Amino acid sequence: MAPLSGLPLLLLAQGVLCLDSSLPNFLLVFADDLGYGDLGCYGHPTSVTPNLDKLAKGGLRFTDFYSSCPACSPSRAALLTGRYQTRSGVYPSVFEPGSIGGLPLKEITIAELLKTRGYATAMVGKWHLGLGANGTFLPIHQGFDQFLGVPYSHDQGPCQNLTCFPPDTKCFGTCDQDVVLLPVFQNENVVQQPVDFPTLVPRYNAFSKQFIMDAVQQQKPFFLYYASHHTHYPQFASKEYTGQSLRGPFGDALMEFDASVGGLVATIQKLGVENNTFVFFTSDNGPETMRHSRGGNSGLLKCGKATTYEGGVREPAIAYWPGRIAQGVSHELASTLDILPTLAALAGVPLPSVTLDGYNLTDLLFNGGKSKRNTMFYYPVSPDEIRGAYAVRYGKYKAHFFTKGAINSEGPPDQDCYKSASLTSHDPPLLYDLESDPSENYNLLAGEQREKYVHLLKEIWLEKAHFEQQMDFAESQNNKGRDPSLEPCCNPSCSPKPSCCRCL
Ligand SMILES: *[C@@H]1O[C@H](CO)[C@@H](O)[C@H](O)[C@H]1NC(C)=O
Ligand SMILES: *[C@@H]1O[C@H](CO)[C@@H](O)[C@H](O)[C@H]1NC(C)=O
Ligand SMILES: *[C@@H]1O[C@H](CO)[C@@H](O)[C@H](O)[C@H]1NC(C)=O
Ligand SMILES: *[C@@H]1O[C@H](CO)[C@@H](O)[C@H](O)[C@H]1NC(C)=O
Repeated sequence: MAPLSGLPLLLLAQGVLCLDSSLPNFLLVFADDLGYGDLGCYGHPTSVTPNLDKLAKGGLRFTDFYSSCPACSPSRAALLTGRYQTRSGVYPSVFEPGSIGGLPLKEITIAELLKTRGYATAMVGKWHLGLGANGTFLPIHQGFDQFLGVPYSHDQGPCQNLTCFPPDTKCFGTCDQDVVLLPVFQNENVVQQPVDFPTLVPRYNAFSKQFIMDAVQQQKPFFLYYASHHTHYPQFASKEYTGQSLRGPFGDALMEFDASVGGLVATIQKLGVENNTFVFFTSDNGPETMRHSRGGNSGLLKCGKATTYEGGVREPAIAYWPGRIAQGVSHELASTLDILPTLAALAGVPLPSVTLDGYNLTDLLFNGGKSKRNTMFYYPVSPDEIRGAYAVRYGKYKAHFFTKGAINSEGPPDQDCYKSASLTSHDPPLLYDLESDPSENYNLLAGEQREKYVHLLKEIWLEKAHFEQQMDFAESQNNKGRDPSLEPCCNPSCSPKPSCCRCL
């Protein structure tokens, strides 16, 4: 046996090497306040989104894909950790420029997991998971080797004097006042303040391209988290897309976003790594229809941002990987919560030993299998342990236990979306069949057939009770409050703050 004894080891070594060199790359594209009805491939008549439409045609387009929350910071926390935002404490609402809290460093992000397998990692665009004292919560402390972006929403700083569309169309509205002008960070440093909107996306795209080229050249698998500011208010675009869309400023911003996705895919194609790169696109929450035609559109779904109706959390989503993912449309249930377990499975990384709320979707993505997900729990922007999830999706059904309108969703004629629709508890719940009634128009318990649903309601109650029993709310990070001295400032010793904070 002696002459052969080295063989299995050798094979093993080759197997490991082979596995390492074939680890897939991940490109995760996240849009901001983009609704279910905003893309050409989801039925919008005047949006110009040829690149996303092409990915949808060549990949798998989801009809029943959910974000974990109808607002930015919580939905981003869930995306990166595979856990509902209640577990990490990223609630209620969103972080401010001077927020003291952030996504706790002990949370394990996708980037941190992938780094254990030697991935090169970068984050571009809108972070919105905290900044904190001395940039404690910035992406480079959460597993990302590099960061270029704005650490929060691009309306969280005065914008009335900024150019949103070249040559000199000022941003629409004033955005948030009495805070510092919007900064652009590179890693931990403010490199631009105020932000220059017309050159921002070209800058992001050049950075992204360089990051991918460097990783490929170094033969490292990469993870790029590209979190666009588009199509959140205030809309902006570079010269190339200004005035180009039939849909006005929103359409121009969307065109710039779509073209960015096209550019990223072209980069992986040119570098010959398209067949080894998993591209996933979705959005953080529904459209902010209070901006009227400058807000997005949730298509046939009810209401939008900040509500637990479908328009608040059901999102366009596309999975693309030529040669691996078959073309088609999936009606299976899936969520941003499932991204972490799925990428971990693909990279062969053990899951972190924390409670996860996501499922490994590889069977659904690569084998046309069923989703392991059969439920989705809808938390409001300001969740509490007593009420728990406001609604539950269970298979094709959805039960609302509480409903509430929101200022962000005002605009459409449906008064249920408005802030004046105050918190209402429903016992029995409002029950909808989302397959035959995706717009949540016809309460199944309002008709004569309601006895038919007694058993179903019991199952839904049990699912909710079981879920809430194992849900531990972490201490709220957002309730830690604000400290204006934490707001990022390019020349920290200047005065008077906040208006003096500018890069000269
Ligand atoms: C931030 O860092 C500086 C310099 O290292 C230090 O003096 C200061 O105390 C830190 N601030 C906080 C709030 O930790
Ligand atoms: C905007 O410009 C006006 C006129 O120059 C100036 O008075 C005002 O302070 C500026 N506002 C901000 C927020 O920069
Ligand atoms: C990628 O896969 C497709 C389909 O399997 C194949 O036609 C193409 O040649 C592959 N490209 C590269 C660069 O390997
Ligand atoms: C993910 O799911 C696939 C298909 O069901 C399975 O083969 C694989 O072992 C799973 N991976 C992990 C890490 O759970």
